[in-house]
Parts: sequence; C-alpha cells; structure tokens
Amino acid sequence: MEEIIMYPGENRKDTVNYKDIQAQYITAVERNVLVLGSGGREHALAWKIAQSDRVSKVYIAPGNAGTASVGTNIAINISDFQQVKDVVLKYRINMVVVGPEQPLVDGIVDFFKNDNDLKDIKIIGPDQKGAQLEGSKAFAKQFMERYGIPTAKCFTVTADNLNDGLHYLETLDSPYVLKADGLAAGKGVLILNDLVEAKSELKEMLSGKFGTASAKVVIEQFLKGIEVSMFVLTDGDDYVILPEAKDYKRIGDGDTGLNTGGMGAVSPVPFVTPEFVKKVENRIIKPTIEGLKKEKIDYKGFIFLGLMNCGGDPYVIEYNVRMGDPETEGVMTRIDSDFAVLLDKCAQGKLNEAQYKVNPETSVTVMLVSGGYPESYKKGMKITGLDDVCTCCTVAHAGTKLDGNDIVTSGGRVIAVTAHGKNIEEAREKAYHNAKMIKFEGKNFRHDIGLDLMNYNA
Ligand code: AMP
Ligand code: GLY
Repeated sequence: MEEIIMYPGENRKDTVNYKDIQAQYITAVERNVLVLGSGGREHALAWKIAQSDRVSKVYIAPGNAGTASVGTNIAINISDFQQVKDVVLKYRINMVVVGPEQPLVDGIVDFFKNDNDLKDIKIIGPDQKGAQLEGSKAFAKQFMERYGIPTAKCFTVTADNLNDGLHYLETLDSPYVLKADGLAAGKGVLILNDLVEAKSELKEMLSGKFGTASAKVVIEQFLKGIEVSMFVLTDGDDYVILPEAKDYKRIGDGDTGLNTGGMGAVSPVPFVTPEFVKKVENRIIKPTIEGLKKEKIDYKGFIFLGLMNCGGDPYVIEYNVRMGDPETEGVMTRIDSDFAVLLDKCAQGKLNEAQYKVNPETSVTVMLVSGGYPESYKKGMKITGLDDVCTCCTVAHAGTKLDGNDIVTSGGRVIAVTAHGKNIEEAREKAYHNAKMIKFEGKNFRHDIGLDLMNYNA
C-alpha cells in the first residue's frame, strides 16, 4: 500500500510504502540535527554526524559549498536567535550543535532554555556564563585561580589601574604576553620581546586597539614549551576526552609570520602520553568540571583546552567553549563511533553511558588558504581539482561558496585536506599529494605540518 506524506513546513511530497511511513516519520521527527556555523569545523562536524544511522537529516546554517554535500544549508544569520528558532521549529530539529563561540558567548543556550518552544530541544554548548571561559580571559584566569588549575601567572589591567599594569610588566622577564579580555577574532594576543614596546602596546590596547575587547587586558607570564589542543565533551558531570591535536597557528613554515586561525593539524600528538593525559585529567579536567558545578554553570558541550606542555607538565593557555579549527577536521576522522549518539548522550546528561572508539591511525590536515591571508585577500576564485582528490582523504570546506555551478573561495582559510597514515610521515605524504590536486588562484599553504613532531622526543 502506498500513501502520500506531506512534511509540515516543507513543500515536499514523498510516496512511500505504508509500513515505512511511520518509521520514516518518527525518524524525521526525532532525528534532525542542526549544525550552526560555516567553516571547516562545521563541515567536519556535519560530515561526521551525517554518518550516523540514527540521524535522518543534517542541516547546516549558514554552511558553505562543502556542507551542502553532507546536508542542507539554510541561509540565516545565526546571531539572530529568532531566525535560529524559526529553523528549529520549521525543520523539526531535535539537536543543535553550536560550532563557533560567538552565539554561545551571546547566550544561545540560555535563549533555548528560556523559550517554551525550545526548552526541550537538545543543544550542545555551555550557557552564557560558561561561555565566559572563552569570552573573557579575565574570567577564565580567575576561574582557574579559584580551582587551582595550572596556568601562567597574570595581572588584569583596565584604564583605572594602568600604572599597576606597567609596574607588573617590569616584574616579568621577556617576552611579554598581553591578551585582550574579550573576543577579538583570534587576534587579541600580543607577544612582545621588548619592555618599552610592551608598555606602549598595553596603553594602545586599553585605548581601543581591539575595540571594547581590549578595554581590559590580561598580562601573562610567558610559558615556554610546546602547545597541544585537547578536547573534552562534558555533560556537566561526566566527560569524554576526544582525540588531541597539534595546531600550526603561524602563516609561514617554521612557525614564522602572522598568526592565523590555524594552518594545519596533526592527531594524535606524540608527547600526549597516557601519563600526560592523567595529569591533564587530574589537574585540569576534573577541577574544571567541579568548578562548573560549584558555580551552577549549565555546561553540556565541548571544552577545548589550549595547553602548553612545559617539561611534561600541562598548563592552560586558554579555554575555548567549542571545538578547534582546523583540529576538528583531523579529529573527526579519528572517531570510529557514532558521534551523533555521543552528542545525544551529552545533551541528555548521560555521558556516563557513552562508549566511543578512536582510530589509532595518524591524521594530518593541511589548510589551503587564500593568497594574502591573514591580511587582505581576494575572494571569488574558482576552485578546481576537487574531484581529483583521492577518496581516501577527507576534504572539509572552510571558506567556499557555490557560484552557479562553480565552487569559489569565500574566505581566508579555504579548504582543509586530511589524510590518514600509520605514522605522521605517511599521512603527510598523502595529505600533501592530494592538497596539490586542488587549485585556485593565490593558493597558499604551509609545507611543514607535522614535521616538528616526526622525531619528537618528549
Ligand atoms: P590564545 O588566544 O590565548 O590561545 O593565545 C594565542 C597564542 O599565543 C597561543 O596559541 C600561544 O601560542 C600564545 N600564548 C598565549 N599565551 C601564552 C603564554 N602565557 N605563554 C606563551 N605563549 C602564549
Ligand atoms: N585552531 C585554534 C582554534 O580553533 O582556536
């Protein structure tokens, strides 16, 4: 027997076998996921979530040309929560995964919790207070101080105590670290070798160098070591540690030139030994979650620990309340379990029931960027060669859009190519070989992703 089913809110008619109708209808009602964001991280998240046989539809808002191949893009402004609400209701979304930090810092989780129509929709991310771990460096530092979490010593300055700040700088050794308190699109951290320059930059920051984000500045002791990004998924009680990754932040080979959003990643990281992970759990993860509980912060989401490994001891450089980009592109390919189920357990506060498997292979991710990035660059360059990339690689679009039948560049970071291998060398070879297949005018990338880790001895 056949019957026609109309999906509310959609002009779509499907002819299906009657027996399938209920199953499909229930699936459609219960298992629609909306990923918010438009970068490589969101493409990787949507790609992984779409693999779940428990998920019937993945929507990405606003998405990019790559996310359109794993789900349905919806062109809305995600800073406008009413627009997000309309999408959630129209497409009967059951779970929302918030990719970037801004909507979290702006309180999207609280918006959901306080809205009668949305309060039962699962949402991955902390509430607005929890998002302050990323939204305010001063808040994060005070939080770490309260719970004895290892981090660089620091002093917080505003225009009112500038002189104290200048004196504090004199007590530190070079180099000097100055951090804008608020979100500054990844540009708000200055590291300066010279004291006179550091003092002058401090004054400039307080006078609005990064707008209101630097009305408050955190001066930090410089930590010497090697960085790693670790990712925790927590439901506020329990937690799961996702694969770690090393990010390459500078634009140029050998860590030279300007800071970027991230030019590549390697996962796993050789110095993240079981012993190192234990230290991170005992000294950082457990006290962080205890702190969140004590402060009644509703946190069902990712905690991204930007860590410095100082001679085998982990220190927190920063908390982020989201996954890293491009780390996510190389981390998702290493998760061998149903990630949607893991997120679902998280949102339900049942992470203690979760099990997940990690692929032991090494992933290397190479980010292809627009010429000129991270300074000014051209957009709208036609991208070719995507079909020549080996299906053994994973291609995540970061800054692309559809232009008629073409895919064109639409951002600084354009496409991330991830390959797996039994070690870094093998994964590097595959990633670079395939990254070369993709072409667009001005294409630039780092050639040394993972090189520093190939012979790393902790
Ligand atoms: P953040 O935005 O806090 O991650 O800082 C950007 C980058 O600055 C980090 O990835 C580090 O490379 C560097 N950095 C930040 N804080 C420190 C510190 N206290 N010591 C050394 N390097 C730092
Ligand atoms: N890759 C660093 C970040 O996402 O902040």
